[in-house]
Amino acid sequence: MRWGGLGEERLLAPPHDKEMKLRDKVAVITGAGSGIGAASAFALAAEGARIVIVDVNEAGAKDVADRIDKHGGQAIAIAADVTRAADNQAAVDRAVAQWGRLDVFFANAGVPQWKTDVEEVDEATFERIMNVNVKGVWLGAKAALPVMKRDRRGVFLITASTAAIRPRPGGQIYAASKGAVVTLAKALALEVAPFGVRVVAICPVATHTPMLPTFMNKVQVDDEGLKRYEATVPLGRLNQPEDVARVAVFLASDDAAMITGSTVEVDGGRCI
Ligand SMILES: NC(=O)c1ccc[n+]([C@@H]2O[C@H](COP(=O)([O-])OP(=O)(O)OC[C@H]3O[C@@H](n4cnc5c(N)ncnc54)[C@H](O)[C@@H]3O)[C@@H](O)[C@H]2O)c1
Repeated sequence: MRWGGLGEERLLAPPHDKEMKLRDKVAVITGAGSGIGAASAFALAAEGARIVIVDVNEAGAKDVADRIDKHGGQAIAIAADVTRAADNQAAVDRAVAQWGRLDVFFANAGVPQWKTDVEEVDEATFERIMNVNVKGVWLGAKAALPVMKRDRRGVFLITASTAAIRPRPGGQIYAASKGAVVTLAKALALEVAPFGVRVVAICPVATHTPMLPTFMNKVQVDDEGLKRYEATVPLGRLNQPEDVARVAVFLASDDAAMITGSTVEVDGGRCI
């Protein structure tokens, strides 16, 4: 697992308070014990945000929080399952109790699907993927948006996928789950716009995280899988988690003040 990249290194740099885009903001990031969520936690922390790291994987969450703390940032880890309403509420409550505000909720936790023909997938798989990837995001919104509406500020980010726009064969449940949250982002954006709150869906193409081999139907990424996937991306490479994290920082910041309801592709041209 690559933990390096922009966020973690910038935390080590000398103070640069004035340029910080998220100074004193508070963010909850789900699925932040690994991959895109972890890179986003580092990147947001490097811009001055204080982070609640949420993951079912407690050890992963703790490791990311410890690393942010060690580099001079502020983070706390929470073991939580996004499919449970009470766990989402606990994450929001913890952010507010600890730091008195909530500026960003990044509903990023998700699970992949092994490439399987529709007639071979069982209902339990459908329910598990929809539960985490759709219900988990909706529950995050139910917990976070009332606070943001009350305070008349905030950004709710969702990690969707290019699968929502340009699916690959055999990933029909995953693609549908990501399509659902792209539309959820638009519906929520309209609902909360009168309160000055924004909602944006980010659509990464295949990204180098522990999830990647599953999309390739492999136990580990190998040359064949990598070449096959890279050939589908006009820019000729897959995302690093930091590619997505940098976009999350931008969308969470006031630089994106007029962006809401959007579907932001981070895909090297895959969806063209
Ligand atoms: N890796 C890719 O190719 C890719 C591409 C597009 C979109 N995505 C999406 O990006 C998001 C992050 O995935 P990643 O690639 O960083 O994978 P990852 O496996 O590195 O991280 C996902 C994290 O979510 C956590 N998680 C899973 N279920 C959870 C639950 N019920 N409650 C709380 N945490 C839970 C996992 O423990 C893990 O730490 C997902 O929504 C995924 O669908 C990934």
